[in-house]
Amino acid sequence: MTHKIWKNINLLTMDNSENPYGYIDDAAIVVLGSAIEWVGAKKDLPEFPTAQVIDCSGAYMTPGLIDCHTHLVYGGNRIDEFEKRLNGASYEEIAKAGGGILSTVNATRQATEEELVASASKRLKNLLTEGVTTIEIKSGYGLDIENELKMLRAARKIGRMHNVDVVTSFLGAHALPPEYAVNREDYVDLIIEHMLPAVAAEGLAQAVDGFCENIGFTCGEIEKIFIAARKLGFDVKLHAEQLSDQKGAALAAKYGALSVDHLEYLSEESILAMKKSGTVAVLLPGAYYTLRETKLPPIELLRKHNIPIAIATDSNPGSSPVLSLKLMINMASTLFQLTPEEALSGVTRNAALALGLTDRGILARGKKADMVLWDINHPAELSYQVGGSQCLAVIKNGEVN
Ligand code: NIG
Ligand code: FE
Repeated sequence: MTHKIWKNINLLTMDNSENPYGYIDDAAIVVLGSAIEWVGAKKDLPEFPTAQVIDCSGAYMTPGLIDCHTHLVYGGNRIDEFEKRLNGASYEEIAKAGGGILSTVNATRQATEEELVASASKRLKNLLTEGVTTIEIKSGYGLDIENELKMLRAARKIGRMHNVDVVTSFLGAHALPPEYAVNREDYVDLIIEHMLPAVAAEGLAQAVDGFCENIGFTCGEIEKIFIAARKLGFDVKLHAEQLSDQKGAALAAKYGALSVDHLEYLSEESILAMKKSGTVAVLLPGAYYTLRETKLPPIELLRKHNIPIAIATDSNPGSSPVLSLKLMINMASTLFQLTPEEALSGVTRNAALALGLTDRGILARGKKADMVLWDINHPAELSYQVGGSQCLAVIKNGEVN
């Protein structure tokens, strides 16, 4: 194997808290196979006599972007619902009338695994060309064993077909399927007794997720599911405090959740619980924007308690039909007033934390050689520009994509 030296780079390692962005001027980065072997200023570069050298002409380089919360696999679309919301109906009203998530459940149940792979692959390409090298994908539109497994298999297949790492989460507790409308405990039992063991047996998910909300599941129901999930060795995470304060984040923290996501209605009490458990706050500006939410997540309190903040697309057909993590970097700054450095940490270092991945998210010796080259002159340009790719090259596992 030959070493590859990427030189003449403005390097944003995202690795050093003393130095904004972990910035290294006139840097070089040495890659062997799929791992980073050396990172530093070019003047300190050791000899690698047979190395292949790639001159980056002063371009900026960041870690590969990580989209740590998506529902990329689904059937159909929700354009009718989009129009209904523009005419004044709320997301909750549509859900209560049997639309929303359940209309996507219908379409997803009707789709074959191949059809799901094909439509999600098309969506994925948009994310990949903008620098995404790792993506999380949830189930949650099948809501029965066969269709939840179908979604997770489709997600895994997408990871094998494209040059990207796919991390999967089982979201059986996303909505109550129509066939259980009058006996919700039976659906929770189905998740615990049949779905979780089936997902575990096939090794189809790293984590178990849920939607804790008035239109989703109660804390009591989620707790039962988390207990069973933990017994089977799954990580847990939760859609929490999106539309109201259910204290879901504190519950998730009690079970050591990797992340809690959305969080517009999060309280300081729950933030203190998250601090204890090291749970990451995943903010989803695409859903905030699409639903024209006006309540901001408690950014100042998250900062005050040093909670790591990640940013993701939440790509889904209803609340966030978003296919650009780059746009989420912008929205995290413009809508949530995150600094450009916080926003970039949110899709690199902290997004890796949210997925429990210790081998990526920063550019340092021993980490994965997932890197992106950008056509920018200042790191804040990644937050500043709206639209336009800025992406010069994506390097996945040491190879240019
Ligand atoms: O993250 N909040 C619940 N779940 C998704 C929305 C799914 C949908 O509307 O289809 C979310 O926003
Ligand atoms: Fe979501």
